[in-house]
Amino acid sequence: MECIFVNGGRALNGTVAASGAKNSALAIMTATLLCGGKHRISGVPDLRDISTMKRLLEHLGVQIKGESEFELDATHIDIVDAPYELVKTMRASFLVLGPLLARFGNARVSLPGGCAIGLRPVDMHIKAFEAMGADIKIENGYVHAVCERMHGARILLDMPTVGGTENIMMAACLADGVTVIENAAREPEISDLALALRSAGARITGDGSGTITIEGVKELAPIVHTVMPDRIEAGTLLIAGAITAGDVTVDNCPVEYMGATLEKLREVGCVVDASGDSVRICSNGSLQPVEVTTSPYPGFPTDMQAQLMSLLTLAEGTSLIRETVFENRFIHVAELDRMGAHIRVERDCAIVTGVAQLEAARVMASDLRASASLILAGLAARGTTVVSRIYHLDRGYEALEKKLQHLGADIRRGQE
Ligand code: EPU
Repeated sequence: MECIFVNGGRALNGTVAASGAKNSALAIMTATLLCGGKHRISGVPDLRDISTMKRLLEHLGVQIKGESEFELDATHIDIVDAPYELVKTMRASFLVLGPLLARFGNARVSLPGGCAIGLRPVDMHIKAFEAMGADIKIENGYVHAVCERMHGARILLDMPTVGGTENIMMAACLADGVTVIENAAREPEISDLALALRSAGARITGDGSGTITIEGVKELAPIVHTVMPDRIEAGTLLIAGAITAGDVTVDNCPVEYMGATLEKLREVGCVVDASGDSVRICSNGSLQPVEVTTSPYPGFPTDMQAQLMSLLTLAEGTSLIRETVFENRFIHVAELDRMGAHIRVERDCAIVTGVAQLEAARVMASDLRASASLILAGLAARGTTVVSRIYHLDRGYEALEKKLQHLGADIRRGQE
């Protein structure tokens, strides 16, 4: 089995760059289904989720060339069916539903099912498409949607779902009339998708706020876009500096979208300097406990919760972490406790009592961000931590161990 071996205890120093944002790239790739012609998307990170999305789009008929700079030709779509085998491995696959339905009037997409971090239903996506005129049946685990011509609608989301907002926004680009999404998600990746869609002639305003207005157009042109940098990867690399009492600079940071993370790291006692698109973090190893609640953007991101928790295991006192976005995103707690951390979970709260030192252990990754948190803990622990099930890590971090090696970490991938 492939594992990551981390010899902890080295302070990390130096400069690395964040890659393109996974969650932005995935959505923008599905948007290419909205029209034929050659789309150009640059800054796409080299990740397993991107390969999965590539396979799904190719299955539908999209021709894809290139590595980090993709040329996607969605002129000949032969199939409007996204099979379970591809959707179950990556929930973002469900985002093909909106574009396929809007362009072809027909789509059949597997229901994604639950995953390690929660149930993650897609009811809000489905309700919105029905409001836009689609006839939707759920049969044998598949969503089958049919609609001769979608029309605009006023959609009030029960909660600001990121994927739901993206799916509706894409479909609305080709619907008749105006769609207004209220209580829309405000995540920067949604604005990046809107920017990509506008490059194709879409009429979208209000992205980045809770109300997004989309005026449908008859047809779009190919997208030309560079994916924004990954704020979660950047935050993870900054915590690698903080947890090792190091001095790390991350270039290519989307600083304006990292407010909640940078503020929390300052509150923990790190010196955090942002200048242009670079962020430098220094820590003398003295970490203060904090209280943090995850919430939709601009709140503290749930995708940074596990990594911050690793840092707080070494704080001088007791921290409180409340997870409000996903109902089961504390699976890493048991693994961190095996490394000597003192964390207790009560409902949606993790109570983290800092310890002076973490100890290496064999640990198992349960999801993408959990695997990052275990590697971070390993960087600070005494001894060699072995992290297994690292396919979770490869889904969403481009060359993480190489970037950490570059900063001086003793980390390698190997067979156990
Ligand atoms: N929800 C519903 N019904 C719906 C849709 C969502 O109840 O129809 C609930 C979910 O179960 C969850 C909450 O709403 O409790 C938020 O889910 P959301 O739809 O916003 O999440 P998502 O679109 O499935 C994206 C990211 C996640 C990130 C969340 C929250 C992508 C591909 N994924 O997921 O990223 O955690 O937004 O910010 O964009 C990751 O990168 O590790 C990751 C999990």
